[in-house]
Amino acid sequence: MMPSRFQSYKSFFKQLTLAVVLLTTLPILMGAKKEYTVPVEGLDSALRKPHRIPIKRMFPDKPKFATLKKSPDRTYTMDRPKPLKRQTWWTIPKELKNKAFACQFNKQHVIVVDKEKGGALVAQWMIDQLNEREARNLPTTFGLATGSSPIPVYENLVKAFREQKFKTDNLSTINLDEYIGLEPGDSNSYKQFMRQHLIADLELTDDQFHIFDSQAQSENDPEIQRLQKLLTQNPRHFQLLGIGENGHIGFNEPDDTLSAETPTRIVKLTESTRKANAPYFGGDTTKVPTHARTLGPKDILHAERIVVLAWGEKKKAAIANSILGPIKPQVPASLLQKHLNVVWVMDAEAAATLFKQGGRVTREMARQFPTLFQTPEK
Ligand code: PGA
Repeated sequence: MMPSRFQSYKSFFKQLTLAVVLLTTLPILMGAKKEYTVPVEGLDSALRKPHRIPIKRMFPDKPKFATLKKSPDRTYTMDRPKPLKRQTWWTIPKELKNKAFACQFNKQHVIVVDKEKGGALVAQWMIDQLNEREARNLPTTFGLATGSSPIPVYENLVKAFREQKFKTDNLSTINLDEYIGLEPGDSNSYKQFMRQHLIADLELTDDQFHIFDSQAQSENDPEIQRLQKLLTQNPRHFQLLGIGENGHIGFNEPDDTLSAETPTRIVKLTESTRKANAPYFGGDTTKVPTHARTLGPKDILHAERIVVLAWGEKKKAAIANSILGPIKPQVPASLLQKHLNVVWVMDAEAAATLFKQGGRVTREMARQFPTLFQTPEK
């Protein structure tokens, strides 16, 4: 009996599928592709310039893929996967409509929102990322900051944790910086700050919460090496930052030698930073330590996503210089322009100069944030 027309179509498609499967898998099975395909989670894909780092540091866990080439010194070079686009990974929930404004300046995402709502928004992004990774059974590392800026975020994280909106079993945190020379348990140390505002409430153990020790510096500083190792073992999926009035991030102060390659190290604090932090030390600048340990720009920029928080008009000049100005060591936060995945979250006061200099004021923005666009008194 002649096969029906339907049957011959069916067998043709069967053969076609088989041919496609064979053509795509055979070269791989036969080792024709001498490249290594390994998981990439952010890290380098977040940076513009391709560069070489040891494979273990780059790829601790799964999904996305990139092609790596092995070189004789046993390091791997990652071919930059396709031209990278800045990602819009953040979302603004409906309830913030008309209460938050998102825009781009100099290709960087800026969200203008008041401090309380901004805290809730950023906390939600962190929870979403944590839960999304948790669902894939992946551990998550958050890079955290101290100071007044992240407090609304921490309050919202604590509230959500109490409401069982997320679990912390697979979460670890690494803090940006710490003073040098404070007694263990000193209430001004950033370790205590973190315990008080977040760590205790999220029930994170000492194995999950990492920060530099505030002990005095010793030779070869093993403390820097210890943190550096932790950074290598736990690439950060999210990095929270504040910004200093002088444009510092972490304790990376304006300094002619600062660059995107500056490593994690001990730094001397500037007088302006010591003065800005004096209120925590009873208003006495002389009590503020002179040195600190800080993640360098190199490590900060290795985080997959970065959010910078800024509240209040004291930050407006630093914000404008960092976002609109050229990348330069005298404005450390301008180095963030090298990262593809930064969102600046600030209130109208902090955004004032940015909007004036950026020249992108729309009627809609003016309606939402009238204070932004008042002409300064003469
Ligand atoms: P602040 O400090 O959050 O207390 O304003 C930020 C910083 O100096 O980095």
